[in-house]
Amino acid sequence: MALPHVLVFPLPLQGPVNCMLKLAELLCLHQEIHVTFLNTEHIQQRLLNCTDVQIRFEKYPNFKFVTVPDGLPEDNPRIGDQIRKIIEGIEEVSSPLFREMVIAACGPTCLIVDGIFTFAVDIAKEARIPLLYFDTISPCSLWTYLAVPKLIEAGEIPFKGNDLDALVNSVPGMEGVLRRRDLPSFCRAPDLDSPIIQHVIKEGKHIVQAQGVIFNTFEGLEGPILSQFRAMIPNIYAIGPLHIQIKSKLANSQCLPKTTMSNSLWKEDMSCMDWLDKHPQKSVLFVSIGSLATMSKAHFLEFWYGLVNSMTPFLWVQRPGSIIGLEEDNINNVPKELSESTKERGCIVSWAPQEEVLAHSSIGGFLTHSGWNSTLESIVEGVPMICWPYFVDQHVNSRYVGEVWKLGLDMKDICDRATVERMVRQVMEVNKIKFLERAKQMSDLAIASVAESGSSYQDLDRLIEDIRLMRI
Ligand code: UDX
Repeated sequence: MALPHVLVFPLPLQGPVNCMLKLAELLCLHQEIHVTFLNTEHIQQRLLNCTDVQIRFEKYPNFKFVTVPDGLPEDNPRIGDQIRKIIEGIEEVSSPLFREMVIAACGPTCLIVDGIFTFAVDIAKEARIPLLYFDTISPCSLWTYLAVPKLIEAGEIPFKGNDLDALVNSVPGMEGVLRRRDLPSFCRAPDLDSPIIQHVIKEGKHIVQAQGVIFNTFEGLEGPILSQFRAMIPNIYAIGPLHIQIKSKLANSQCLPKTTMSNSLWKEDMSCMDWLDKHPQKSVLFVSIGSLATMSKAHFLEFWYGLVNSMTPFLWVQRPGSIIGLEEDNINNVPKELSESTKERGCIVSWAPQEEVLAHSSIGGFLTHSGWNSTLESIVEGVPMICWPYFVDQHVNSRYVGEVWKLGLDMKDICDRATVERMVRQVMEVNKIKFLERAKQMSDLAIASVAESGSSYQDLDRLIEDIRLMRI
């Protein structure tokens, strides 16, 4: 019997690549499993420029990177509004090359690919090898994607009228929780022809054809949703939070790297760690909108005034290109009261070592876009959140953070300076103890899930055993 050989293919974006690299490393620790990691050339180049990923993975003789083009012109920014083009590029240009790798003699014995890659079902069938989807978004948000046909059938989308606060009834298990505004952002499209809605419907039909689905989550957080999934897809592996699963496994095998474990696509500015060292415990708000989200200059100024007026020290990641219409040389051209107050109690960087920042004792809150990695990283460190979701799954995540898990506040759809100030004060002052206590409880559950005999620990063991034995 051939040695197990997994071909891993992430969606070429920061969040998914980060997750899949962590999973790949976890698989590599089992030396009898070979792992080929398929990156787009663009992502690979950025990883090589910004991290020591090459050196880190060189210690695994059973691992190799391979690359394919992504079909996009080099100057495409590959951010927020380009997501459709990114998927089209993968489908048209990368997927035929992926197919050749899969059906080649001595090809992989198992595929682990992003849940959005519907083309993988036919390729896995042709090669007669098992396919595992890894959906790197949250199960609670994926569950709403899968409910899109039900929402259409019930006439709940497209929305009739403008009331975004109306409750939604056709997502099983989420009745009374979701308002229209909490559905994935594509549900706001005025008609059903939107390519993303069509793709999501297709995704729902394909995902059930895989041999299993992997999630970066844990039972203590999403147990009820995972039960709903299991009724539809019996073979679910909930193995998160991956970033602490890998740290704990490396610590146990005494292989913890001396350098960082960064998978960043931007160079991390480590100077902010010294700045954080100068602050008291739980006093600083961390602000970041992740790798894809953008904001208008007007929103940017509202955020800035809100932060400054809250009087809370803040560390703010202003990713290059994330503020639309703000020229590089204009950044100093801001109202004096903002720049002066920022000198006093702010620190601005273009990209931070986020996992380390959130783990720093001075961090007391996180103003986030509610990307799934960011949400989990905050949960693990017991950091309460203020959520300003930008698109797709993030709208569901932020609702769960605020309403279900009670780990912070959902600021969705508004960001005037008064609201920003009020919410920052709520999380950092008025209800600080309440939020910190709740966040600590969830953090404890997260950490327990990856400890020996925890649910995520066991699911990872089962996944590895299945990869060894799985045949279709
Ligand atoms: C994308 C989608 O937009 C999101 O909805 C989905 O949940 C995942 O993929 P992204 O913007 O990449 O989101 O957000 P997120 O999933 O939070 O991932 C961002 C990653 O970048 C995190 O792991 C975070 O630690 C890292 N990061 C972010 C840094 O290392 N430094 C920073 O300064 C900011």
